[in-house]
Amino acid sequence: MPQLAYVNGQILPLASATLHVEDRGTQFGDAIYEVCAVLNGQILDWQPHLVRLRRNLAELGITLATADGPLGLQARRLIARNGHRECLLYIQISRGTARRDHAFPQGAPANLVMTVRRFDFAQRVRQLGSGIKVITRADDRWGRVDIKTTGLLPNVLAKQAAREAGAFEAWLVAGSEVREGSSTNAWIVKDGRIITHPTGTHILPGIARDSLIRMAREAQMVVEERAFTLAEARDADEAFLTSTTALILPVVAINGEAVAGGKPGPVTHRLAELVWNEVARQTGWRA
Ligand SMILES: Cc1ncc(COP(=O)(O)O)c(C=O)c1O
Repeated sequence: MPQLAYVNGQILPLASATLHVEDRGTQFGDAIYEVCAVLNGQILDWQPHLVRLRRNLAELGITLATADGPLGLQARRLIARNGHRECLLYIQISRGTARRDHAFPQGAPANLVMTVRRFDFAQRVRQLGSGIKVITRADDRWGRVDIKTTGLLPNVLAKQAAREAGAFEAWLVAGSEVREGSSTNAWIVKDGRIITHPTGTHILPGIARDSLIRMAREAQMVVEERAFTLAEARDADEAFLTSTTALILPVVAINGEAVAGGKPGPVTHRLAELVWNEVARQTGWRA
């Protein structure tokens, strides 16, 4: 079955699904996006993704004519037409197509694009046993990384550096403070306390982060939303990362040095149980 994509109201073969060369997303990175996990054909955390998408559009003053209901329906239709049970849904909305000029164009409707691609979530469950490695890079992004825009060049370069170092992720560090990964949120555990950078303008408010904080607190675990340093991370009892596509993964090395004895720890293990139980509750999917 050929892959299908959604472009401005139409579902087309991916190979012929295109935007105009003067799409503002291409020329200026003037676009926002979401990535959602789909398991058992069900979109995980759809409502929080929708809330963040709307907030990002509002922050940038992009108007999307499509209302929430039809957007969800079109996304589900695309998933069903592609026939994938486990996949990632990508949604991108740019300010539209217009003659190149920095200032906002008048009367150009937003461009809405959606794609899906197969994804192996069982691999994430397997990675819980081994954990993953991270490196660190300077956080040289702009000042509003809380807005999920397609302007991801620093993230791309950091992720590539991680790949070349044989690591899963690059943690972005400002001064001595660990902010987040290039596409994941960063966490440590010390003396039973679970610590992650607070929301604000220095990190992306991850959907997986938010949902884990809620679940951990419901389970009577202590979560501190505060900045932590690289030295604290090296000295932590455990470290891990979260995102829609990573779910939750233990970090066992930072810059080639073992964290927590180089093995996934019990708090991360307990949190992973909460995460995967929530996946099962929402979608019925089990590894
Ligand atoms: C910079 C950054 N931080 C954190 C995340 C995790 O966010 P979420 O949990 O919504 O996937 C992402 C996801 O792409 C990201 O790009």
